[in-house]
Amino acid sequence: MCGIVGYVGDKTAVPLLVEGLKKLEYRGYDSAGVAVLDEGSLTVKKSVGKLAALESKLGDEMPQTTVGIGHTRWATHGRPSDRNSHPHTDCTGKIAVVHNGIIENYLELREWLSGQEHAFSSETDTEVLPHLVEEFYTGNLEEAVHRVLGMVKGSYAMVVLHQDEPDKLVAARKDSPLVVGLGDGEYFIASDIPALLNHTRKTYILNDGEVAVLTRQGVKITDSKGNVIPKQVFQVNWSAEAAEKGGYDHFMLKEIHEQPRALRETISSRLAADNTHVILREVGMTAEEINKIRNIRIVACGTASYAGMVGKNVIEKLARIPVEVDIASEFRYCDPLLTPETLVVIISQSGETADTLAALREAKKNGCRVLAVTNVVGSSVSREADDVIYTWAGPEIAVASTKAYITQLAAMYLLALYLGQVRGTVGQELAQELIAELKNIPGKVQRILDGAPLIRDLSQTFTDVEDAFFIGRGLDYAVSMEGSLKLKEISYIHAEAYAAGELKHGTLALIVDKVPVIALATQESLFEKTLSNIQEVRARDAKVIGMVFEGNNQMKKSADYVLYIPRTHQFLAPLLSVVPLQLLAYYVSLARGCDVDKPRNLAKSVTVE
Ligand code: M6R
Repeated sequence: MCGIVGYVGDKTAVPLLVEGLKKLEYRGYDSAGVAVLDEGSLTVKKSVGKLAALESKLGDEMPQTTVGIGHTRWATHGRPSDRNSHPHTDCTGKIAVVHNGIIENYLELREWLSGQEHAFSSETDTEVLPHLVEEFYTGNLEEAVHRVLGMVKGSYAMVVLHQDEPDKLVAARKDSPLVVGLGDGEYFIASDIPALLNHTRKTYILNDGEVAVLTRQGVKITDSKGNVIPKQVFQVNWSAEAAEKGGYDHFMLKEIHEQPRALRETISSRLAADNTHVILREVGMTAEEINKIRNIRIVACGTASYAGMVGKNVIEKLARIPVEVDIASEFRYCDPLLTPETLVVIISQSGETADTLAALREAKKNGCRVLAVTNVVGSSVSREADDVIYTWAGPEIAVASTKAYITQLAAMYLLALYLGQVRGTVGQELAQELIAELKNIPGKVQRILDGAPLIRDLSQTFTDVEDAFFIGRGLDYAVSMEGSLKLKEISYIHAEAYAAGELKHGTLALIVDKVPVIALATQESLFEKTLSNIQEVRARDAKVIGMVFEGNNQMKKSADYVLYIPRTHQFLAPLLSVVPLQLLAYYVSLARGCDVDKPRNLAKSVTVE
């Protein structure tokens, strides 16, 4: 995830900026840069790779300036490169901007700016910002930034430096964090608290819509209309380690809580404002090529393959194309039946999983078109695939995948709707209903997160459990697979997922007194059937934890405990039903004293076969 640091004071800025950026390294990045005013003119140094590469570019003779901004970039729009690194500048080279988040309407703005004779030098969404500031600058940077904010859509934490106002930084935020550090005659700005802790623990936490102006004389905060607002000092009492986790006890919990934002960033620029269609510019296939697809093979490992199971279900329903889901380690050795009309969809958070990459190459060797869904721009998978849909979850640090999975699901819905609309297999009414509801999903995920204490209480009953079962039908079965993996990998409880109707073909023999059975029943069309399967395990004295939409009064008659999730279209239920399962796995792991973020025997990225 990108990191921002800015400084105004009386010390040499460059070492402070680099030191601050180092404190944000844990968040992951692929390039870095700084912009400072050197003898009155703006100097920008940036480099792909680690901070050491930037430091060697900066050399020993660093500018002695006392104002500057710095950035570590996690690529989204445009691959990792010197050119795409921040800070970005305008045509005059006087304005520098660092930015976290995504400017959703950047293509539109870029087109408009190009018409005003602005020349662009990167592929990023961010670069529109310095050009917009240039366009509106009439001697007052703060005013120009306010005008720019009125034009951009999306999420941002940004800091702007202008050569003509040399002792000033102007910063703004919406849906991406930004914190002001209050020193003695010196002021800092950063995307995350760890970057400030060596210098101050007194901060202002900026809220959405607020703009901060930092000078050596102090900090002024205004609202979106430019009215000055009073701000309370927030005294940070966290340790450096807790600060890295944003105050959460573990990266996994932090990442679970980042899901509303990750979803918003992944879907919002890809859904038409009037809900009529999905925009997937990154899929380069023509309508003719899409209409020629005879079958789809989704290939992935672990969690990513369970996202693929949801993908199979929704692509078959909406685009009416037969889909198979293959585990990558099997696919490459099973002599897969592939034709040029087979679309192979590769899902990989890291984009570096050895088996998944080998499967991609196998598909290419067979002449298939390969579409990748990955979270890492510039990863091997992204470089070798024909088309890439990026999930914009930001780096995932905990081994157990959470925000990457939910954004992979989002990508599956986008793809299914897109293929369905091109092939004419999805009705306009259904498409509009699903698109409108997709936009509501981040808020509904947030509501589930707000109810986390209830799930923490439930987790206490799992401390001495040895086995657990997850059951569901249709999409609920696909999510059960992921729920079961989450529980086993971080709590070491033996857990299995079954299609609810399959239990009585063998597994029912394992259902004995008090064995927890987590039964997902969000698929209303299958509800009665699932309820019958619940009765089967209840009759064997299982402890049933049911999951249904709010307003369902039937489950409580059959279950020992009911998890309620906000009501949504049943196609979209996985985006919500997985969240309580992630929280349950997290709290059970905690209650059992396991190493939540680094479970035994597992690695985040599996780059060996
Ligand atoms: O990076 P990838 O998505 O290719 O990783 C695939 C699996 O190793 C991964 O999803 C794994 O199952 C999860 N970390 C489990 O939570």
